[in-house]
Amino acid sequence: MTLTERLRTLAEATRPPFPLAELHCHVEGTASPALARSQARRYGVEIDDLLDGERYRWSDFGSFLRAYDRVATLFRSEDDYRRLAASYLSDIGRAGALYAELFVSPDHAASAGLDPTAYVRALASGAAEAEAETGIVSRLVVVGIRHLGPDAVEAAARFAVRSPHPDIAGFGLAGDERVGRPADFARAFAIAGEAGLGLTAHAGEFAGPAAIAETLDALKVTRLGHGVRAIEDASLMARLQAERITLELCPTSNVALGLYAAPSDHPLKRLRDAGLRLTVSSDDPPFFGTSLTEEYAFTERHGFTEAQRLALTRTAIEAAFVDEATRQRLLERLAVLAISLGAPGASD
Ligand code: ADE
Ligand code: ZN
Repeated sequence: MTLTERLRTLAEATRPPFPLAELHCHVEGTASPALARSQARRYGVEIDDLLDGERYRWSDFGSFLRAYDRVATLFRSEDDYRRLAASYLSDIGRAGALYAELFVSPDHAASAGLDPTAYVRALASGAAEAEAETGIVSRLVVVGIRHLGPDAVEAAARFAVRSPHPDIAGFGLAGDERVGRPADFARAFAIAGEAGLGLTAHAGEFAGPAAIAETLDALKVTRLGHGVRAIEDASLMARLQAERITLELCPTSNVALGLYAAPSDHPLKRLRDAGLRLTVSSDDPPFFGTSLTEEYAFTERHGFTEAQRLALTRTAIEAAFVDEATRQRLLERLAVLAISLGAPGASD
């Protein structure tokens, strides 16, 4: 090997990982089958029917949501949740993530028998461990579960507002989008919005573009969980662009849940070409056989250049539910990393 080749190899080996960020990941959905198995053993719960070797067993959106709920019940103590958050955030921090938001659900905590305030405290403590280890900055977004109904979603919003924790930065809506109408949840979102929380909602995943428009009108969100089915309506696409709404895209999740038959059918590129504000996230990574790194790789396979992939990270930080000082600090870190990757134009 020549000296130049040796130096090139060394430079590759010491290159910082590609800077990533994600805005859309459900904390209970980060538990691997191996971890679920060990939690099940710890609590003496039978979960054989939930697993197919090293994969979760589910066949459609409904059975996925039920599998998710069962996995969530395997996390019962503060220590379980502290370790879950620390392990996921440290993993993605080591893989290059500068910033992440975790969706957290007081309803799932309660159904596992844990007080939601203790749940948030434990998750924040795990997040602090991950930050100390890898530098990753993170925030929590409290979500209401749509199929539990408007009263439950309002209670989740009241919890987020009533039990303020510095890590709780936003409020969102998860669960089965086929249930109810966006306007049913307007009061919950008004409560959270008036308290200064950032707002996001799953929309345009299992319902079509009309549901996205209704979500924007009724819930006043600045971000959409998925929002991918906006591609079906040109005037809605124009509205998303004009209102600078950020899409939390989760491409592998969409393919796994059958929205698109194959990865090549995903409209990622058309959304980009329409000038929408895009980010990518893993949603529930082991359920869909993905990771945050893999979501960025998905975009690369769809023709996203390095500068376009850096723009995904920059857009995520711009849309993050953080104070302005934190946002500027993250943007500066990103700019430095972009330059060290040799992509200075990406920091413009
Ligand atoms: N909860 C966990 N994952 C979800 C998804 N992809 N959509 C709606 N609710 C969820
Ligand atoms: Zn989701």
